[in-house]
Amino acid sequence: MNAIETDNLTKYYGDLCAVNHLELSINNEIFALVGPNGSGKTTSVLMLTTLLHPSEGSALVCGYDIVTHAEEVRSRISYVPQDMAVDIKLTGRENVRFFADLYGVPHARERVDEVLGIMELGDRADDLIRTYSGGMRRRLELAQALVHEPSVLFLDEPTIGLDVAARKKIWEHIRALRKKGMTIFVTTHYMDEADQFCDRVGIINNGRIAALGPPMELKARLMKDVITVRVDGDCTPPGLEGVVLIGRSGAEVTFTAENGREALPAIADALSRSGTNVRAMSLHEPTLDDVFLQAVGQQQEPHGFSDAKFRIMLRRRK
Ligand SMILES: Nc1ncnc2c1ncn2[C@@H]1O[C@H](COP(=O)(O)OP(=O)(O)OP(=O)(O)O)[C@@H](O)[C@H]1O
Ligand SMILES: [Mg+2]
Repeated sequence: MNAIETDNLTKYYGDLCAVNHLELSINNEIFALVGPNGSGKTTSVLMLTTLLHPSEGSALVCGYDIVTHAEEVRSRISYVPQDMAVDIKLTGRENVRFFADLYGVPHARERVDEVLGIMELGDRADDLIRTYSGGMRRRLELAQALVHEPSVLFLDEPTIGLDVAARKKIWEHIRALRKKGMTIFVTTHYMDEADQFCDRVGIINNGRIAALGPPMELKARLMKDVITVRVDGDCTPPGLEGVVLIGRSGAEVTFTAENGREALPAIADALSRSGTNVRAMSLHEPTLDDVFLQAVGQQQEPHGFSDAKFRIMLRRRK
């Protein structure tokens, strides 16, 4: 039995199809749903955590139907929402204890101490949460989510707004939970995090899965070197054999080439002859950003480059 199994899971808000026939089987792994703002990540999580009814299709979580057996699902999962889920007027310990009592956790006092210790919050447990840093609050939400020993954990944007060190720490904890056998469904904007820390990635765009697989495999599918060119204004594709345009994101135009070292000067030459104003060029191995660009380009109705925030994220390429 898979921890999460969806069958054509679909959600409409009025005429807008926010999640479009999602087909996923997830078990014993960290699965990342990655995509731009408004691509359907939170809507997917809300359905899988029983908080939102699907318009069409169905899903089983821990073997139970999310609509007809919502109670059974809820007792076996935990969900850390995108927005803050702790009461800042309470202490860390009080917050976690509240959840322990809500779930009827046996030996609650010991279990609360244990999860606070796991999340490295033991020495700050009796301080008010409003005195915590963003990273500590996120870890407290994880402690709270773990208190009833769920088998599936849903984390919606667990690292958003955190600095690099705090993000790394959150991921260390997520990896440790995965080692203990938990299935973790995480959403993120950060392709680099999905690449580095997750077993499999589903790239979602306009509610549809555009690519699905382990990061290495997705990148290997491109099987090419990637050349990114930063241009001013329009860019006329160079029309060189073996050089394929995979997409444009803001000022950056991305190509794949069989042999990047040979293609780089040829592309520079062809673009300058066609009057394209090239400001910078780089050659790199494929990243998940490139996989996204290509996958979205292959979808029937690509709207992938319309989202300003996501364009900024794409520019943060390593
Ligand atoms: N309650 C709602 N009513 C109407 N439309 C909604 C509602 N919630 C979300 N949407 C729309 O559904 C689409 C998917 O939204 P969703 O919140 O699932 O995206 P997301 O991938 O989580 O975005 P973000 O990265 O910004 O968190 C968006 O177009 C959004 O505007
Ligand atoms: Mg969201």
